[in-house]
This record gives sequence, structure tokens and C-alpha cells, in this order.
Amino acid sequence: MLQIPLRKLSQLKPQPADLDRYETASQDELRAWQRERLRWTLRRAFEKVPHYSAAFKAAGVHPDDFKDIGDLAKFPFTVKADLRANYPFGMFAVPESEIARIHASSGTTGKPTVVGYTKGDIDVWSDVVARSIRAAGARPGMKVHVAYGYGLFTGGLGAHYGAERLGCTVIPVSGGMTERQVQLINDFKPDIIMVTPSYMLAILDEFRKQGLDPRKSSLRVGIFGAEPWTNAMREEIEEAFDLHAVDIYGLSEVIGPGVASECVETKDGLHIWEDHFYPEVIDPVTGKVLPDGEKGELVFTSLTKEAMPIIRYRTRDLTRLLPGTARALRRMEKVTGRSDDMMIVRGVNVFPTQIEEKLLTIPALSMHYQIVLTREGRMDQMEILIEARPDAAATEVRKAAASRLEQAIKDTIGITAKVSVLDPESIERSLGKARRIVDRRPKE
Ligand code: DLL
Repeated sequence: MLQIPLRKLSQLKPQPADLDRYETASQDELRAWQRERLRWTLRRAFEKVPHYSAAFKAAGVHPDDFKDIGDLAKFPFTVKADLRANYPFGMFAVPESEIARIHASSGTTGKPTVVGYTKGDIDVWSDVVARSIRAAGARPGMKVHVAYGYGLFTGGLGAHYGAERLGCTVIPVSGGMTERQVQLINDFKPDIIMVTPSYMLAILDEFRKQGLDPRKSSLRVGIFGAEPWTNAMREEIEEAFDLHAVDIYGLSEVIGPGVASECVETKDGLHIWEDHFYPEVIDPVTGKVLPDGEKGELVFTSLTKEAMPIIRYRTRDLTRLLPGTARALRRMEKVTGRSDDMMIVRGVNVFPTQIEEKLLTIPALSMHYQIVLTREGRMDQMEILIEARPDAAATEVRKAAASRLEQAIKDTIGITAKVSVLDPESIERSLGKARRIVDRRPKE
């Protein structure tokens, strides 16, 4: 275990008086609120959105069938394809004139997924992001450097409005221009940075390139999300910058960042702001709701959204629900991957995060990696491209590191992968979400 003299925690943990009502509510109070809001949401969706009235009818359910929270399982799921089929504004429950903001997620193929917000939705979103930033240790008056992308992506503006709502000074840098990111961190001295973990690594490299000691920067907390990242990467970033790294989760279809967030004092999974977003975990194959504690696919139903209520949205993210710790609200375990990111290599299921966990155990290897899948004959081949750390230049050192990683993958995951250790900076840097998998297998 690394011994990290992290910046003082005692100044970052919020006082009970700072917390919102539902952060400390009893389970009974919370469930009563959820029951009432679920009833409201199901009815509104049914009455105002043709997609939901058709889907409920096809499933043989009516909002009146909802009597208690367990009845939610009778209602049909919503998937990304439903949003695409109703492109661009078919999922909205209010007239277009009441839409205050539109965001969209690019998606790799086809039409983007469009989401809309009323003024009230933007208000709720700002509140949940403010709550997330506060859980991470931010206080009014602190400076927040936002390096999530601004634009149709929800990261930049979501973080921005939340930090502003908390009373912080916002520095809206957006993603890219890494040299300038470092200059602004040095000159403006932010306390907090909000950015994808993979781009934080690019910022780290730039600090070193400029001969600056990242541990001497003003940053005390990093709020990282928008992509899966491991506890191994958390340790790497915390050690390098001497800051607290916490996880923030969200998705555009549900609201954006701020659906769930980690507390700096525990860093033990993300508290779901379940006064606004009702979570379920299901078996991804059968669709059956799983009890808390069991791993499966995360599903959300919005409780307060006006413009675009979302019913049982299948996120494709894999996790499990856990009881509250630092807050009364339930936690979700750090997301290890999306079902879409799962690679099946010769019958074995593998996620990029499983490989990431192994990297840090080998000192010559950096955290910049990419997985290339190809097919030879009928056999899937996996190659891991990974950059060496700058001080690991010798061929023998790199060779030894490659075979150590190959062995670790064989021993713990059970697959044969080829590891190629490359020069620093040979893998493309992401400005936002990293592209971990390059799939060159022929399409079936
Ligand atoms: O990524 C919203 C966001 C912005 C979250 C900034 C956090 C920080 P989308 O572009 O719609 O929205 O992508 C949502 O990203 O279903 C997950 O697969 C993944 N994701 C988001 N946060 C995390 C996280 C934003 N903390 C998709 N850990 C989600 C793992 C995450 N995966």
C-alpha cells in the first residue's frame, strides 16, 4: 500500500448542518417520498409521452397498478434505442417552448441521444451536482477548475452549474489545450479539479514535461467520472498530486453528472442521490430485479424530472447496491464497466478495468493503455498496447514488464494476451473519455 500524506481530510468533511434533508433522512421517510414521486412520474410519463403510453399498454400495465415501490418492476424498461426511435424531441413531456436546455450524447453510430431540461430540471441538476461537489470536500468560496468538455456533453455545464450553485468560483476551462490547463492551474490556484480520470493523467504528464512538481500544485480534490476507472488509478493520481480523488457518476439520459457521488471521508462507493433517481439492479439477461448487494445492470427511474421523465432506463453499467455509510442514501459500487465494453475473448469475459488493475503492480508500466482486438481464423486475439514510464527505457526492462503483465493476466483473468510496451506518448490522449478498446475484428 502506498503511504500518501494526503491534504487534510478534517477540513473537507462537511458538517451535518451543511447536508440536505434527504442526505440524513430515515429510510421510511425516503421510501415514502420515493413512492409518491414514482406515482407522479409514472402518471406523467403515461399521459404526456406517447412512447410510454404505448409501452405501458403493450406490457399490460397502467399507472394505477403502482401501489408500492415493488410494483415498479411491472413497468417496462426503456433503452437507448427508444430514445433514438423518438429522435429528436419525442420523449419530451412538456411543450418545446418550456425546454430551457438541450444536451445530447454523441454515440459512436447513428443518431445522437437527445435530452431536454426545463428550468426546474436545471435547478435540480445544479442541486445534485452541488451536493456531489460538497461530498467531495468543496466549500463555498473554493475555486473549481472544470476540464470536462463544455457543449452538448453534459460534463462541463453540469459541473459548472453545480459548482456555481455551491458558491464556488468556477473556472470554465473545458477539455483540451493541455499546456494551458497546467498554466491555469499554476496561475489561478484552484482547490478542486473536475475532469475525466484519463485526461487527468494527460495533465499529470504535462506537469512533469514542464518540470513542475504536481504535488506542489494548489489542487486538494479531484472529482473524476464519465468513464470507468479503478482504485489502482485512484492511488496513482492521489499519490502524484497529493490530492483526494473521488468518483462522480451520471448519464445524460438520467440527468448528467451528479446521479451518484463519493464522499471524501469514506471513498467507499458512490451515494446515489435517490431522492431524485430511483435505482434498481437487474439481471441483464432475465431482466429480474436483484436484491441489494448482488451485481447486475443498473437501472434508473427519475423521480422529479419534468421535461423528460425516464422510466426504468437500462444504463448497461454493471454494479451493485450497498447500504449508506457517510450518507443515509444507498451506495453503488464503483462501476467496473459497461456490458457493451465487455470483451469476450475465447469465451472469457474481460473488462478493461481488470487489466488496468494489474498495470500498477508493474513499476515500468504507465496507466496509458489501449486494448486491440483482432481475429486470426476463428480465434480472437487480444493485444495490450501500453506505454512505458519515462524512466523505463531499457529494452530488457520493457520486455520483462511485458511478460510480467502477460503472466498476471493469464493467472488472474485466464486469457492469453500479447503485451507490447511502447515509448511514452505513443498512445493517443483523450481529451474526455478514453477509448480503451479498438475492435478490429470483422463484423459478424
Ligand atoms: O458521462 C455524465 C458525466 C459527466 C458523469 C461528467 C460524470 C462526470 P454520458 O456521456 O451520457 O454522461 O455517459 C454516461 O458514462 O452510462 C457510464 O457508462 C459512464 N460513466 C459516467 N460516470 C462514470 C463513472 C456522462 N464515475 C456513461 N464511472 C455511463 C464509470 C461512468 N463509468
